[in-house]
Amino acid sequence: MNNFTFHTPTQYIFGRDAEMKAGEMSAKLLGKNILVVIGGGSVVRSGLLDRVFASLDAAGVAHSLLKGVKPNPTDRLVYEGIDIARRENITGILAVGGGSVIDTAKAVALGALYDGDFWDFYCGNAKPENALPVGTILTIPAAGSEGSGNSVITREADLRKLGVRTDSILRPLFSLMNPELTFTLPPEQTAAGIADMMAHIFERYMSPTANVELTDRISEGILKAIIEEAPKVMANPEDYDARANIMWSGTLAHNGVCGTGRVEDWACHGMEHELSALYDVTHGAGLAVLIPAWLAYMAQHAPAKPAQLARRVFNISEPDDTQAALLGMTALRNFFHSLSLPVTMAELGIENPDIPELVRRVLINKGEKFGGYYIIDADIAIQIYRLAL
Ligand code: NZQ
Ligand code: ZN
Repeated sequence: MNNFTFHTPTQYIFGRDAEMKAGEMSAKLLGKNILVVIGGGSVVRSGLLDRVFASLDAAGVAHSLLKGVKPNPTDRLVYEGIDIARRENITGILAVGGGSVIDTAKAVALGALYDGDFWDFYCGNAKPENALPVGTILTIPAAGSEGSGNSVITREADLRKLGVRTDSILRPLFSLMNPELTFTLPPEQTAAGIADMMAHIFERYMSPTANVELTDRISEGILKAIIEEAPKVMANPEDYDARANIMWSGTLAHNGVCGTGRVEDWACHGMEHELSALYDVTHGAGLAVLIPAWLAYMAQHAPAKPAQLARRVFNISEPDDTQAALLGMTALRNFFHSLSLPVTMAELGIENPDIPELVRRVLINKGEKFGGYYIIDADIAIQIYRLAL
C-alpha cells in the first residue's frame, strides 16, 4: 500500500428534509451573502428552490441567483458567476443541483478570488490556492462532486473539457443530501448516474498498486451494493431506501476513500470527456460505453485486475484470467443494458465517431501516454474507441 493523505472536510447531512438545513449551514459556513447556483429548472419545478430560499431568509442569509447551468457545463456561466460574486461581495456559494451545477459553483468559487482567468486552473497554468467556500444540496447521485475536490468545465471556444483536482480546497464544506429529492429524476439520468459512480470506483480499482486489500474490498462492497440497489430505483423511483443507498454510494465512490493507498487509472474518464465535449452526450452514458470497451482490451493485455473484479463482484468462477475478465465485461454490459443504458457508440447516438479527432484531443488533454493500471497511447486509444463502436 502506498502512503496517502485523505482529507475530507465535507459535513454530510443526509436524510429526509436535509435541505431545510440550508439556512443554518450557509450562515455558519458560507457567510451572510451567498450566490445560489442552479441548473435548467428542475429545482424550480420541484419547489426545492423555494424551500431553500425560505430557509436562507429565515437564517438571515442574503442570496443572489446564477441559473441556467447546462449538463457538461461551460465557461460562459462561470464568467457570469464570477462577475456577480465580485460585484455583490459574495461570501460563499451554494450549489443546488447535480455535478454540472456543483462544478460551476466550484469554478466560480476559484475564479472570484483570482486576478487572472479562472481557466488557468483547468488548463494547468495555475494551481488553486484559495476559493470561496462552497456548500451543496445534491439532486442527482452521479458525479460525486458533492464530496470531491474536483470540478470539470468545458471551454466553449474550443470544446476542451478539463478538470481541476484539489486535495481539499474545492471540497464542499457541507452537502445536504435528501434521497427524496432524487425521486423526480428521469430514468435515463438515474441510470447514467449509476454508471458514473461505478466508473469512479473502477478508475480507482484498476490500479497497478499491490496489497491494497482493504481498499479493494471497500470498492467491491460499494459496487455490489450499487448492483443490488440499482434495479430497485429503476423499478420504483420512490423507493426511499434504495435511493438512499444509491445516493450515499455515489459520494463514497468519488470522495477518495476507494483510491486510498494506490495509483489510480482514469483513462476511461479521459476518453469519455472527449465524447461528452465533442458530442454533448451524458457523461455517465458515455462511460457505460467506454468502460466495457476498456475492459475488453484489458482482458487481452492485462487481465489480472479485471479478472479479480469479475470474480469478486460478478461472481465469475472461471479460472483463466482472460476468460474471467471477458465474462466480467459481459456481465457489466448486461447490467448496463438492464438499466437501459447504451453500451455502444451507436446506442449512444454517435453513428460515425471521429476517432482520430477524439484521440488527438485526448492526447492533448491527458498527455501522449495516460492511465495508471495500463498505459494508453494513441494506438491503444484508437483500439479502445473502436471496441466501443
Ligand atoms: O439542469 P436541471 O434542470 O437541474 O436538470 C438536470 C440535468 O438536466 C437533471 N436533474 C438533476 N437533478 C434532478 C434532475 N431532474 C429531475 N430531478 C432531479 N432531482 O439531470 C440532468 C443532469 O444533471 P448534471 O448535473 O449534468 O448531472 P451529473 O451530476 O451527472 O453531472 C455531470 C457533470 O459532472 C462532471 C461530468 O463530466 C459532467 O460534466 N463530473 C464531475 C466530477 C467531479 N466534479 O468530481 C467527476 C465526474 O467524473 C464527472 O466528470
Ligand atoms: Zn465521472
